[in-house]
Amino acid sequence: MRSILVIGARGQIGSELTLALRERHGDAAVLAADLKGEHDLSLRDSGACMFVDVTQPETIAKIVERYDVGTIYHMAAILSAVGEANPQLAWHVNVSGLYNVLEVARHHRLDRLFWPSSMAVFGPGAPREQTPQETILQPSTMYGITKVTGELMCNYYFRHYGLDVRGVRYPGIISSETLPGGGTTDYAVEIFYEAVRRRQYTCFVRADTVLPMMYMPDCIRATLLWMDASLDELRHHADYNLTALSFSVEELAEEIKKYVPDFECAYEPDFRQDIASTWPRTIDDSAARAEWGWEPHYDLAAMTKEMLTRLTTKHREGKLVPEAQTAEPGFERLARAQDPTAARGNAPGAAPPEPRRRDPSAEKGAN
Ligand SMILES: NC(=O)c1ccc[n+]([C@@H]2O[C@H](COP(=O)([O-])OP(=O)(O)OC[C@H]3O[C@@H](n4cnc5c(N)ncnc54)[C@H](O)[C@@H]3O)[C@@H](O)[C@H]2O)c1
Repeated sequence: MRSILVIGARGQIGSELTLALRERHGDAAVLAADLKGEHDLSLRDSGACMFVDVTQPETIAKIVERYDVGTIYHMAAILSAVGEANPQLAWHVNVSGLYNVLEVARHHRLDRLFWPSSMAVFGPGAPREQTPQETILQPSTMYGITKVTGELMCNYYFRHYGLDVRGVRYPGIISSETLPGGGTTDYAVEIFYEAVRRRQYTCFVRADTVLPMMYMPDCIRATLLWMDASLDELRHHADYNLTALSFSVEELAEEIKKYVPDFECAYEPDFRQDIASTWPRTIDDSAARAEWGWEPHYDLAAMTKEMLTRLTTKHREGKLVPEAQTAEPGFERLARAQDPTAARGNAPGAAPPEPRRRDPSAEKGAN
């Protein structure tokens, strides 16, 4: 069997996807690659971890050749909030980076490539309730623009080169293992960490903000299910709508209060409210359900219970945020993203940022 390469393996989704793939195909078959060196212990312990920079195509080609890679999961990206702080970086990584991966995949005749799009492809012009599979795509964020461009590029490579490239429009992903990386739906993860740690949270979008979401186990299951689907049954390739649940922040806070009765949520909307207000509230993912059998397992109640159980256990053990994920709080990260030297800080050999405090709003973030 040819190897499987996960690019962006240190990220919120890539880290759990890598472990799921290793469980399925064996540790030796799955390579983890990222721009950032300090991979989580569970990733390092279970298999090979390496450096890749998708903006430098030779770093991708070297791994593909050396390890006979047949499948790539390309999870590396700059997410929505960080992308608004540094649109040039978002375009460079999300569009030029994807082009480089597509070209390496074409030249090396890869069997299959996975690249995630996002609900951010929809803009203010699209219906916000039950957003259809086929509708107007006029995003107002640079992140959304890069995702629409990416979908068009992937579909082009499928049609013109026969490259089996597959993608879904993920909603906001909620998880208890790796912190989110700078997206507009990060509040739906932060709220759980803060409920466990401080019993209070100040949310950066309004209480009545409703966005489509999905719990990580469903996200991983959907991704693997989609990659297993037979090509003959598919009518779309890089752009399937996908969702699991939609709820307001207020509803989420109420659900958390069932387990943490003295939990309090305050609201101080910032620029991310403007992004959230242009995104769908609910999504129609009937094409994914009909064409490759997608069906979510977790509703709000089941997800909340499991998130709080996992995070409470970690908190008791003093492991709420793993060491490798310790980083600066979100706004400092955003400020750093605006700094043109920020990308250099990620270069191999660069000094790691000073750990400041453990905070779930730190590190990565976004969708
Ligand atoms: N997490 C969500 O809620 C969500 C929602 C919709 C879509 N998505 C999409 O799913 C994918 C994964 O998202 P995520 O939440 O895991 O993101 P993340 O920010 O948590 O992780 C992205 C990873 O990419 C790496 N990276 C950044 N620039 C790179 C480069 N030049 N070369 C190599 N690696 C680089 C980062 O170090 C990071 O580990 C992205 O395409 C994202 O747009 C995520």
